[in-house]
Amino acid sequence: MSTSSQSPDSPFASHDGLSLESRVVAAGRPARVSDAGVNVGIDLNSTFLAPGSAGYGRFGNSTWSALEDAIASLENGPTLVLSSGVAAITALFSILPRGAVITASRNGYSGTMVLLRQAEASGAAEVRYVDVSNTDEVLAALPGTTLLWLESPTNPALEVADLPKLIAAAKAQNIGVGVDNTFATPLLQQPLELGADVVIHSLSKYIAGHSDVVLGSISTKDPALYQRLADVRKINGSIPGPFEVWLALRGIRTLGVRLERAQRNALEIALRLSLHPAVERVRYPGLPTDPHHETAKSFMKGFGAVIAFDHRGGADAADRACAASQLVAHATSLGGVESLWERRHRWSTESPTIPTNLIRLSIGIEDLEDLWRDIDSALLASLKS
Ligand SMILES: Cc1ncc(COP(=O)(O)O)c(C=O)c1O
Repeated sequence: MSTSSQSPDSPFASHDGLSLESRVVAAGRPARVSDAGVNVGIDLNSTFLAPGSAGYGRFGNSTWSALEDAIASLENGPTLVLSSGVAAITALFSILPRGAVITASRNGYSGTMVLLRQAEASGAAEVRYVDVSNTDEVLAALPGTTLLWLESPTNPALEVADLPKLIAAAKAQNIGVGVDNTFATPLLQQPLELGADVVIHSLSKYIAGHSDVVLGSISTKDPALYQRLADVRKINGSIPGPFEVWLALRGIRTLGVRLERAQRNALEIALRLSLHPAVERVRYPGLPTDPHHETAKSFMKGFGAVIAFDHRGGADAADRACAASQLVAHATSLGGVESLWERRHRWSTESPTIPTNLIRLSIGIEDLEDLWRDIDSALLASLKS
């Protein structure tokens, strides 16, 4: 039975009556007929026999459909999977009319910032950069905006946009709204339910959850928009590999338990970091003292498991800390079962508004005390030059 949350022609059962924690487990499974597998297979075909609608491997794939169904069930909107999160954002930006006005965070994910700067430089779009956590500033930028692009919480500064208020205000002015839901996941917030037109994910992070794939998705309840984006994927060829999609499908099954545990670890580690002599400032919306705590608490179901903090000893000391850990890996990315950290300004593309001594720490599902011992000793060691 196909429902409004599923992609057109979805062969999968609806799970609309279930909680999100059950849907991550149950959605995108094969039909329950005798001897069917409980999991979909890896559909390794570049072409399909005629006559029929499948056609060619760039047009669709049964493994993609299963993951699309699972994400559709969580975001409540038909979903397309693409080759990366950046491919999903690029697909959305590519369908904006030339000269579109994009209102976006001034320090969102660095890859998105590069895309925005390129769109400006080529004349494809005008970009209004705002502090997405400053609701009045965003509201003031809305008149004349074509697309309000909300990454929330932001990467890496963990700022939180008041999604219910901003989405409602933009929709009242007939402005398109896209949300990058990578940090929160649909378990913590569902932007389409708040009225956003499009939600994108870097599935490479929490949804796949094991730092072993690069993938993206885009979800929308608008059938015409869905079709335009499906055409972009097909024509531009930003398609995912079936094996990567299958890995993400395997990963999504444990999203609920992974996130629950990682968030629990993250809150405790954020509290301890805020008392640490090597730490100048902790950025984590779960801390009651965080400037974004009240906004996040007002509509999010949790605060996620990414923490950022500014090292008191500056950029060099931050680098020394990241190099000194034994359990936490010194690597980019986030959302995997394993904890990772890095100083964000080791990348030349990081926004100038991000402090050079900021470390982004993605908390995984390891034992809390093992993690803390490692983080504490790496930070203490980094204070000695
Ligand atoms: C918030 C956010 N959006 C999008 C992306 C891009 O995703 P991908 O690396 O899958 O292209 C990232 C990657 O770090 C991200 O953190």
